[in-house]
Amino acid sequence: MSVLARGAIGAPVSRLEAVEKVTGAARYAVEHGADGVAHAVLVGATIARGEVLSVGAERALALRGVRAVLWHGNAPPLHEVSDGELNVLQSPRVAYRGQIVAGVVADTLELARQAADALEVKYAAEEHDVVLRADHPGLYKPEKVNPSFPTDTEDGDFDAEFAASPVRVDCTYETPAFHNNPMEPHATTASWEGERLVLYDSTQGASSVAETVAKAFGLEAGVVRVISPHVGGGFGSKGTPRPHVILAVMAAREVGRPVRLPVTRQQMFQVTGYRTPTIQRLRLGAEPDGRLRAIAHDVIEQTSTVKEFAEQTAVPTRMMYAASARRTTHRLVRLDVPTPSWMRAPGECPGMYALEAAMDELASACGVDPVELRIHNEPELDPETGRRFSSRGLVACLREGAERFGWAGRDPTPGARRDGAWLVGTGVAASTYPARRRPSQARARREADGRYVVGLAAADIGTGARTALAQIAADALEVELDQVRMEVGDSALPRAPLAGGSMGIASWGSAVVKACRELRARMIESPDGPVEVEVDTTPEVEGDEPLARHGFGAQFIEARVNAETGEIRIPRALGVFAVGRIINAKTARSQLIGGMTMGIGMALHEESLIDRAFGDYLNHDLAGYHVPACADIDDLEVAWVSEEDPHVNPMGAKGIGEIGIVGTAAAVTAAVHHATGLRLRRLPLTPEKVLPALADDRP
Ligand code: MOS
Repeated sequence: MSVLARGAIGAPVSRLEAVEKVTGAARYAVEHGADGVAHAVLVGATIARGEVLSVGAERALALRGVRAVLWHGNAPPLHEVSDGELNVLQSPRVAYRGQIVAGVVADTLELARQAADALEVKYAAEEHDVVLRADHPGLYKPEKVNPSFPTDTEDGDFDAEFAASPVRVDCTYETPAFHNNPMEPHATTASWEGERLVLYDSTQGASSVAETVAKAFGLEAGVVRVISPHVGGGFGSKGTPRPHVILAVMAAREVGRPVRLPVTRQQMFQVTGYRTPTIQRLRLGAEPDGRLRAIAHDVIEQTSTVKEFAEQTAVPTRMMYAASARRTTHRLVRLDVPTPSWMRAPGECPGMYALEAAMDELASACGVDPVELRIHNEPELDPETGRRFSSRGLVACLREGAERFGWAGRDPTPGARRDGAWLVGTGVAASTYPARRRPSQARARREADGRYVVGLAAADIGTGARTALAQIAADALEVELDQVRMEVGDSALPRAPLAGGSMGIASWGSAVVKACRELRARMIESPDGPVEVEVDTTPEVEGDEPLARHGFGAQFIEARVNAETGEIRIPRALGVFAVGRIINAKTARSQLIGGMTMGIGMALHEESLIDRAFGDYLNHDLAGYHVPACADIDDLEVAWVSEEDPHVNPMGAKGIGEIGIVGTAAAVTAAVHHATGLRLRRLPLTPEKVLPALADDRP
């Protein structure tokens, strides 16, 4: 692959839409919409399992300005789509508490809410089952895990190797459900313009929303246009359309007006997905020097009764370290809960927490430094496929991080450093995330004034993607950045994959480079005329050499644990990453910092608690679901090692949206162990878990 020469790429360019955003000129999904927009609210089930018997709408419809009440008794039939969450109002069955059972449309949002409160929904409730446990009789082996990995793998004789290993770790780790909380809640404005449908949607992928909605309503492809120039975060929760999108479209058709449907923060905890809770057993067998002989990672997690979502939690364990024998398994149980969904680094995030926590326990058991332990276990080739790595920068990250963090001379003794009431420790863990790309289309043209417009249906969900793509285009065109205008966030533009799997820039950038190079070639042929090209990278992507492509990182954390209150503070966090070429030093840093911050949240604060009686997540707002605030993040530093990888894409760049969250929680728990001597294997490490453990530990 011929990699672009560096020009605009690498520079710390501020977001091109920054002024629009800070002045409020940038429009988000609920800020669009023509005159006469009506307002819809969704009504969620108040039982976790059973049937809707009736929806009494008389009182609601009697309110002046209420336009419609939709429920399964009057909703239009939909074409079935593969995502069972999107079969909105198609049956009386209730699969989870909060599932949409009605939609109310009115002239104002306040009136729609009032009318929703006035609905009389009668149910036949059935007993529900909402608790994941390791001995659940409903556990089964799914056909595959997301997106299409084998459910189980077996390499060598794990049992024999583990039994023969002089040092063994056998631990079970638990993570709770986690909910995505992007700043901008999910929202859709739907407008039927004749037989055409226009959606202003807060989404990570305009093309795929347009296609899915068209399918659900039996419309020709191309009839639906999805516009989303600005999106206030997604983290996976806006990767695929959620059920409110379907309801908004139904409502707009019903009332013959554009309809705006915002999902409330509370409703997001029910209808926009979450990361499954996990129970993970890790077994590591090693030589006394820490060299691994056997690795087993057995995962238990949940899905719903309407859709199978099988998080690929043990998948990173298949490629991370060398070992003679390895086994990975995933088991699921269908509960009466909302379907889990995508959340930043699905698979790698929870899986690497458990693997890296176990590696830290192995380091203690062997008396080997945890940085060195990982270096000892570097594989030559991808252990799962036997393929070469396109590049593998883990060791470089560990060494660079150790140097910057001041790891040398660290006393490994746990519980040996005290500063008043605070116990102090440091920990390390590794990060990884795949560096893939998908086919994408793009177009490029030269304007009459000599400037360039480059467009594709990419999504800028707040990451700075628009800016990074403009930098890529400028270098591919060999012009200054201000000569390029990017058009993104509209399904009417050439089809592009969604902003997910950290593949956005790799996929879209490949198409932008191809379009810009072709445009340059065309301009040589016809130097004066208007020139436009449109390209598709399917042949390039399908022709990619079979290599193992991953980004890597190392995270170093200092933790202070208050022996009197159980409070944990993180005064220092450092992440060093090997992620190919950095396109934009400023926005890349933000992504990595954001990921690490989310990882600290996972370790210390975040936890969606299920209410067993009502069958719902009960801490469903930002007062009850704690994410890190500024005061929780002190000195957080991000760095990257230089890595040239000509095998990933023409930019030589690996995705950075997700790797920052991977490994952070394990580095925190390692630091907490170093501070206190405690192995706390259930996240998050809140004071109510830490304090009793400290008390138990006291002689
Ligand atoms: Mo990400 S969870 O692949 O949007």
